[in-house]
Amino acid sequence: MAMTQLVLLCRQGFEAETAAEIQDLASQAGCFGYCKTKNDQAWVSFVAEDHQLKQLVEHVRFRSLIFARQWFICGDVVHLSGEDRVSAISQEMDGIPHCGEVEIIHVDTNEAKALSRLCKSLTGPLAASLRKKNRLSAKRNHKIPRLMIMFLEGKEVLVGYHFTDNACKWPDGILHLKSPKDAPSRSTLKLEEAWHWFIPKRQWGERLSAGMRAVDLGAAPGGWTWQLVKRSMMVEAIDNGPMKGDLMETGQVTHHEVDGFKFSPSKKAHWMVCDMAESPIKVAERMAQWMANDWCSEAIFNLKLPMKKRYQEVQKCIELMNEIIAKSGLEVEMSFKHLYHDREEITGHLRRRY
Ligand SMILES: C[S@@+](CC[C@H](N)C(=O)[O-])C[C@H]1O[C@@H](n2cnc3c(N)ncnc32)[C@H](O)[C@@H]1O
Repeated sequence: MAMTQLVLLCRQGFEAETAAEIQDLASQAGCFGYCKTKNDQAWVSFVAEDHQLKQLVEHVRFRSLIFARQWFICGDVVHLSGEDRVSAISQEMDGIPHCGEVEIIHVDTNEAKALSRLCKSLTGPLAASLRKKNRLSAKRNHKIPRLMIMFLEGKEVLVGYHFTDNACKWPDGILHLKSPKDAPSRSTLKLEEAWHWFIPKRQWGERLSAGMRAVDLGAAPGGWTWQLVKRSMMVEAIDNGPMKGDLMETGQVTHHEVDGFKFSPSKKAHWMVCDMAESPIKVAERMAQWMANDWCSEAIFNLKLPMKKRYQEVQKCIELMNEIIAKSGLEVEMSFKHLYHDREEITGHLRRRY
């Protein structure tokens, strides 16, 4: 089977942004192809010749994609006939390299959720069948490609693969986190997920450590502050709205009822986080100023995107931030991701490079 599509999973409703982004990156990588998608299907297909797709995934780092949650190369949709899905899928391995593990997923739509049990129930038997045929390594091996099976419907699948060092480590691109009972808002999960995405776990001790000073812009009612407090940081919470009482009782939080766009720290903070519901360009500008003024070492922030041309708006924000930071002469790493807990917004991360 010719591997002629790169499938990109995304949040339902963000197909146009995902398509625009891969199209741009593909042209920069000299790979010619086109996107096929439907509104609200939660995935996009970038169609190109086999060798062009291989070139694309060699040149583009998955981490640089903002809107895609996961990607894999695959062939056309396979229609499974008969009841034995395992045997039918096992026969569709042409063009797939020898793999180190297999994951069976479905797209993230309400309709597709019904496929979840089917996916789970097939994983073990399929792995066993593929091992017998020497299509899958005897033991899990992350150093070689991962076989990706995606169910579109009960009898329609895509069969493909990706390289685990250039893909999302969570098979369906989703990090499932439990909402903590005592956090003041569900928004708390956005910051927790951002840390998981932007900071390697082995560095948490050093980069999210006790005693660090943090500023939370647009903090009320306190979901993000709660995360910082849990990491034993001292937090300046900026918001005209009220902070949840329990947080204030920890003694780690100082609440300033002032405008987050005017607040500046009296002393450099390690962390600045910002969830102010404001225009993305205004937030982007302020975030860049914080870095350019060397007011913090790292920042995590949301850019709210309620407008239609979301991809173009994000590009404008990135351009402006790059300009401001370049003028300061400081070196700053910048990256963005549309996280699972983000809705009409993306999350940005800035880190001063020393
Ligand atoms: C989405 S909520 C923040 C939720 C918070 N991160 C949490 O986890 O609970 C946005 C907050 O931004 C605040 N905000 C909006 N504009 C602001 C400004 N100019 N200065 C300070 N706070 C602002 C609002 O009062 C609101 O509490």
